[in-house]
Amino acid sequence: MTKIIRENIINALKKIKHPATGINLIESDMIEGLIVKGNNVGFAIKVEPHEAKLMEEVRKLADQTILKISGVKKVLSVLTAEKNADHIPAQPIPKTSSPKPRIGGHGIKPPATPQAVQGVKNIIAIASGKGGVGKSTTAVNLALSLKKLGLQVGIFDIDIYGPSIPTMLGIDEKPELLENKQITPLKNHGVVSMSIGYLLEKDVATIWRGPMVMGAIQQMLADVKWDLYGGLDVLIVDLPPGTGDAQLTLVQNVKIDGVIIISTPQDIALIDAKRGIDMFKRTNTKIMGIIENMSYFSCPSCGERAEIFSNGGAKKTAEELGVDFLGEIPLHMDIRIGADRGTPIIVNDPDGAQSKIYIVIADKIIEKLD
Ligand SMILES: Nc1ncnc2c1ncn2[C@@H]1O[C@H](COP(=O)(O)OP(=O)(O)O)[C@@H](O)[C@H]1O
Ligand SMILES: [Mg+2]
Repeated sequence: MTKIIRENIINALKKIKHPATGINLIESDMIEGLIVKGNNVGFAIKVEPHEAKLMEEVRKLADQTILKISGVKKVLSVLTAEKNADHIPAQPIPKTSSPKPRIGGHGIKPPATPQAVQGVKNIIAIASGKGGVGKSTTAVNLALSLKKLGLQVGIFDIDIYGPSIPTMLGIDEKPELLENKQITPLKNHGVVSMSIGYLLEKDVATIWRGPMVMGAIQQMLADVKWDLYGGLDVLIVDLPPGTGDAQLTLVQNVKIDGVIIISTPQDIALIDAKRGIDMFKRTNTKIMGIIENMSYFSCPSCGERAEIFSNGGAKKTAEELGVDFLGEIPLHMDIRIGADRGTPIIVNDPDGAQSKIYIVIADKIIEKLD
């Protein structure tokens, strides 16, 4: 096996010029997250949203050029388009033959051609209005609960602001590239997963902050071999917070069976949660319900319950909006420690009181699936 030298790849990319500026991809600072693993090479090409089509040709050329390097067997590249975090795009990606009417004032279009994902029966997105409310923690524990209830489950982490699924599942590997550019998901605790974090080198994730990665999400949806270990009953998607490009890319490209909104009881989080629900409703995405996380404080030593945030706000919001309320998860040290160490509470303490709360919610979710 010939060792691939990174320098050779850089040199190959230096030969490829941006068609408009004439400056090569390296000097244009357009290459991100270059990964070399065995005979496989992966990277992202950062492009302006309007030039995505033009740059697709450049991407193909880059792949072909790198494939000629001795030792390289496979190349996986993606185009990533950056936008400001608080900017809601007026021009979502998929092209339809006839323009569809706009719904609402955000220029949000209904799903153009949502597709099923091969090897996946149901897709559930986990969303939140703001970050830090426990979306990923809840996503992981619900995925593991669904697994415990006998389903085959996958997690797809597209939180570009902070992909935390690798840490929470305790995975420190990189996916493999298969024939036809397919990417293998990684499996731990019985759950398969793909995270934008796996495709980046450690600590490079901040490059993807704020800006959106529509191309990467679309490509990952198409290229991940979700059924590598057998078909999935449920794919849980961990979204970034808010109502940006990732959310739109997802609802427009794949058939989402439902969205679960995670909120904390504070008013501010609830206002953001309402905004999120509004966006999903406008894109005709079914809201499965709201979960209140860090709902009350559950004392690790005495088990006593303390309502530190005046809990119940999410339940009230759910009633107001005509959305189901799925349950309350306490703020509990074991939940945090488990997630931080890569052994979530469902794995650590499967029969404990906190785990039971997740399992009851997972059971409700199963009932809501067709
Ligand atoms: N119910 C909970 N009890 C204790 N800690 C929690 C709980 N939910 C989340 N956390 C902790 O809060 C922090 C943020 O959670 P995280 O799931 O990463 O949020 P998000 O994905 O919404 O940004 C993490 O350190 C996590 O361990
Ligand atoms: Mg998260």
